[in-house]
Amino acid sequence: MNISPLQKARYEYSPKLPGMLRHGIADICVKEGEATQSVADQDKIKALFPNTYGKPEITFEKGQNTSASKKQVVGVILSGGQAPGGHNVVCGLYDALKATNPENVLYGFKGGPSGLIEDKYLIFDDEYINEFRNTGGFDIIGSGRTKLETEEQFAIASEVCKKHGITAIVIIGGDDSNTNAAVLAEYFAAHNTGVQVIGCPKTIDGDLKNEDIECSFGFDTATKTYSELIGNIERDCNSAKKYWHFIKVMGRSASHVALECALKTQPNICLISEEVAEKKMSLSQIADYIADSVAERSANGMNFGVAIIPEGVVEFVPEFSVLIQEINELLAGSKADEFNALPTWADKYAFIEKGLTKESMAVFAILPQAIQQQLFLERDPHGNVQVSLIESEKLFSALVKDKLDARRAAGTYNGKFSALHHFLGYEGRCAFPSNFDADYCYSLGYNAFMLIQYGYNGYLSKVSNLSAPASEWVAGGMPITKMMNIERRHGEDKPVIKKALVELDGAPFKYFEAHREEWAKNTCFVYPGAIQYYGPTEVCDITTITLALEHQK
Ligand code: FBP
Repeated sequence: MNISPLQKARYEYSPKLPGMLRHGIADICVKEGEATQSVADQDKIKALFPNTYGKPEITFEKGQNTSASKKQVVGVILSGGQAPGGHNVVCGLYDALKATNPENVLYGFKGGPSGLIEDKYLIFDDEYINEFRNTGGFDIIGSGRTKLETEEQFAIASEVCKKHGITAIVIIGGDDSNTNAAVLAEYFAAHNTGVQVIGCPKTIDGDLKNEDIECSFGFDTATKTYSELIGNIERDCNSAKKYWHFIKVMGRSASHVALECALKTQPNICLISEEVAEKKMSLSQIADYIADSVAERSANGMNFGVAIIPEGVVEFVPEFSVLIQEINELLAGSKADEFNALPTWADKYAFIEKGLTKESMAVFAILPQAIQQQLFLERDPHGNVQVSLIESEKLFSALVKDKLDARRAAGTYNGKFSALHHFLGYEGRCAFPSNFDADYCYSLGYNAFMLIQYGYNGYLSKVSNLSAPASEWVAGGMPITKMMNIERRHGEDKPVIKKALVELDGAPFKYFEAHREEWAKNTCFVYPGAIQYYGPTEVCDITTITLALEHQK
């Protein structure tokens, strides 16, 4: 196999463990803290998780290892979208497992959670795993989005575990996957299977975080990759001085990725979906907000700029989400066939006009035709509009152009506006993990095995104090039920891990808010450059500005 020089060099990188895990397996002991409670809806969550609720937070310390010495056979699953560092979670898990007892076995279930149900697996050995150390991607075993959530699936999972003598399952995933990990842990406990379940917090979106989990892995590398590219675009933009770049960045719902990239690169504009929702901003108000920056910069001779648009923003615009709901109803059931049979776009437009409320039609009418058509073409298997496929970077640049044309007609603007569009998403999900993610992920995996070895079930592997050097990180575990509340999902009350959106009174947003006016008017671009894996600590090992601001003392 041909590999790049960097991949070869990264095989030699030794990920840094938290200080307390550095003394060898024989010297890791456990300290139990207070019993925990869920963040909300305590009685309901307790009733749903009678065997796994209320367990203590735990921290590992240097001291004699007192765990029971039994042979461990562990299965690992990668769940959901790729995030840099996933391979290192598996490597950390494998190394701790083998260091504890060379007879221990690690199974990797292939293609995501469905691998467990379909009993598709491989067994790791040194030769295989060494090819994936410190590399990006999830191709070590593959990932998938099948949800493990029904009793029937749990019963099959239990059979598969019994067949292989599996003592524990590690699920590496986001909020939904870890919610399901907690339900599976409860099922295994209630049915006395003896199988433990441990979760690891993954997602580039950065929305699996709370007072216990400081950040999900992959967020650091993905935002560094996007910020490198945004910085490069900014520099091109500031050199040519002739384009406005509209850059959509991934993050299905929360705007953590957009905000972190903005903090790193200081663009002229960055929309924050949570603020759009809070202020109930309309599409027209957002377009005016961007057009103001374009016009002011133009008046100062700068007909160029950069705007960052978070992937999920349109769902946070109240009038737009009402429009989407109405479109979903308009085409429900057989009405979709009636609509599809109409021969021309003009006929379809008339059908839409008849079916939407006056308010939603007014919103629909201002959309560029390509976006209008996208709303009716791109539909999921249930017939719903696929909001994530809407090209919001093009939507906003078209709306801004309309605003500027109107201002030109009114004689209040006479600049040039030429827009280019980008979408940064998949570019960042499989990058070589930064040193931070390589270290963090390896530690999460290593730590997950220690939780297994000490007999914990229904816990999330937790490594904290992440804004400090790795030697000061704190390793331990948190019962997943502590992070849960009850939410309404698909018409039912469900116990779920609370998704973390950008907090408008949090330090990262406050910093951005305090500076954005200046960034909108002037050219304050910052060029972060590519991720550096070798060199001075302040260039290679520093994590996100979000984390630094959230934890500044
Ligand atoms: P996870 O929540 O599973 O980590 O995935 C996040 C994400 O990368 C989002 O940012 C993006 O909207 C989505 O996955 C894309 O999904 P897919 O890979 O299925 O196209």
